[in-house]
Amino acid sequence: MAEHLTVGRVAELAGVSVRTLHHYDEIGLLEPSTRTAAGHRAYSADDVERLREVLAYRRLGFGLREIADLVDDPTTDTVAHLCRLRGLLMDQRDRAAAMVTAIDRELEARARGIRTTPEEQLRVFGAQLYDAIGADYPATRRTEPRIAARIWDALGDARTVLNIGAGTGSYEPPDRDVTAVEPSAVMRALRPPGAAPCVAAAAQSLPFEDQSFDAAMAVSTVHHWPDPVAGLREMRRVARRVVVFTYDADDTGWRQRFWLTRDYLPEFADLLVGWPSLADLANAIGGRAEPVLVPWDCVDGFFEAYWRRPEAYLDEHVRRAVSVWARVGPQAEQRAVSRLREDLSSGRWAERNRDLVALDTAELGLRLLVA
Ligand SMILES: C[S@@+](CC[C@H](N)C(=O)[O-])C[C@H]1O[C@@H](n2cnc3c(N)ncnc32)[C@H](O)[C@@H]1O
Repeated sequence: MAEHLTVGRVAELAGVSVRTLHHYDEIGLLEPSTRTAAGHRAYSADDVERLREVLAYRRLGFGLREIADLVDDPTTDTVAHLCRLRGLLMDQRDRAAAMVTAIDRELEARARGIRTTPEEQLRVFGAQLYDAIGADYPATRRTEPRIAARIWDALGDARTVLNIGAGTGSYEPPDRDVTAVEPSAVMRALRPPGAAPCVAAAAQSLPFEDQSFDAAMAVSTVHHWPDPVAGLREMRRVARRVVVFTYDADDTGWRQRFWLTRDYLPEFADLLVGWPSLADLANAIGGRAEPVLVPWDCVDGFFEAYWRRPEAYLDEHVRRAVSVWARVGPQAEQRAVSRLREDLSSGRWAERNRDLVALDTAELGLRLLVA
């Protein structure tokens, strides 16, 4: 019995009552595989693994019947459950970040005596992250021509192109037949008149036949997908060629080189926990990774864009157009910005980063995956 745990011990470890475990046993959701000589329930390692899944789905708000169907599904093993749970939790975190942002907005509006409309008040409950932050996107997020040239070159002679997580369409090639995919209603509404047709869908489940496009592209979006590898496989399924502009989360030293995350926003590292390695991402499409250096005057205001223009990060408009700031939360953001402001005025930033002034481009982990 050494490898079995008593019901009391399992309850204590899991932070649930013994009564809950008895109930799970009675309804057949989690029947301990054996009993002690005295007739008490005893849980094996497999039972504990199943309990972990049950409790995680419960925390995500699933009902006990739905959970029973999920954990009894013979086609889903432990790794598949963990991947699914991870995706659902990431989605929940993003939705929480979206709600915090929307609540902050409403507080600000109320402080200025402005009442939000019923539509605005309710929208937050169905919000995707980009439904909350999307309105600020066009202020600083534009096509960076040097990066666009790399992406368009990698598309080769593709005539039909699917752009996934298309946003406002910044990197859509003007000379091809483009179809966009974008799950956020706010982002779809911001697409300029005349932009390519846009389908409301998400990367992990693309509503297209196998091999129905010459190429599929995804720019600055993979880090938002609940299951990046599944989304990349979907791209591979629907298109003959795949081009992805993304980020290498492996710690290869350069992560420490970006002063913003190194000196002011260490919370950025938390966002990368569990993020697939670059090799996993490249393998999902069967492709290779090429570094993309960030020019000092990068036109697209993504997170790393202002590495040689630090004052830009003090600008609220710059931050609001980048999801990292919503995801780390207002406390981390305010602390980072006030420290940066102090260091810029005291000259400490300039002293620490004096080598940057001589650089025209920086290697900050951005990568183009091509297959
Ligand atoms: C940083 S924006 C990039 C937009 C555009 N590709 C660009 O480069 O300007 C990220 C986009 O990914 C979208 N997105 C989030 N989750 C997604 C998912 N599961 N599938 C596809 N797109 C998603 C967001 O709604 C948002 O428009």
